[in-house]
Amino acid sequence: MALYEFEGKKPKIPSDSFVHPNAALIGDVQLGHECLIAPGVSIRADFGPVIIGDRSSIQDNAVIHVYPGSQSIVENDVTVAHSVILHDVHIKARCMIGIGAIVLFNVICEEDVFVSAGSLVPRGMNIPSGKVVAGNPAKITRDVTEKDRQAAKDGIEAYRYLCRQYLATMRSVT
Ligand SMILES: CC(C)(COP(=O)(O)OP(=O)(O)OC[C@H]1O[C@@H](n2cnc3c(N)ncnc32)[C@H](O)[C@@H]1OP(=O)(O)O)[C@@H](O)C(=O)NCCC(=O)NCCS
Repeated sequence: MALYEFEGKKPKIPSDSFVHPNAALIGDVQLGHECLIAPGVSIRADFGPVIIGDRSSIQDNAVIHVYPGSQSIVENDVTVAHSVILHDVHIKARCMIGIGAIVLFNVICEEDVFVSAGSLVPRGMNIPSGKVVAGNPAKITRDVTEKDRQAAKDGIEAYRYLCRQYLATMRSVT
């Protein structure tokens, strides 16, 4: 695993979470249980802490960073899809951050929010619980449906399965 101590702070990774060797986790990173951190992810907790809850997945090439004096929090059961950028955010439980979304400074996503693929969520936006947002700048487009909630839940379970399988079977092949 590419884990790096910075200014005396080391990433804390429980043994039941999977971090791909090509992800870089630096400094004050705290990861929950049954998380999957995919290849190419950069979690750079040099200016401040990055806290990730249980059963959350951070997918390929996602970037999480913080400004000095700030923090980024991703709570439990959150999907952070491929190439997402999160900066000084608070993403609450069961949110789904779609592929390529950019979520900027001091944004709060309350529980069960869907951020559509490719959205830019502007500085300071507080997205109420159970809303879908889309676009640049992102606007609320509708309520999250029961079908959306189920899809998000299925996604979390799929990534918990992948986490277990990666821990058990992934080997470097030369
Ligand atoms: C959030 C999401 C599920 C909503 O999809 P949907 O139910 O098909 O879309 P809606 O019916 O809510 O669409 C509402 C409007 O937003 C538009 N829209 C949908 N997705 C959009 C997007 N990503 N960006 C901008 N606009 C979008 C639709 O075209 C529609 O516009 P219209 O009213 O002018 O026709 C989907 O947009 C999305 O981004 N899914 C994320 C997929 C993903 O990244 N998964 C992670 C895989 S690991």
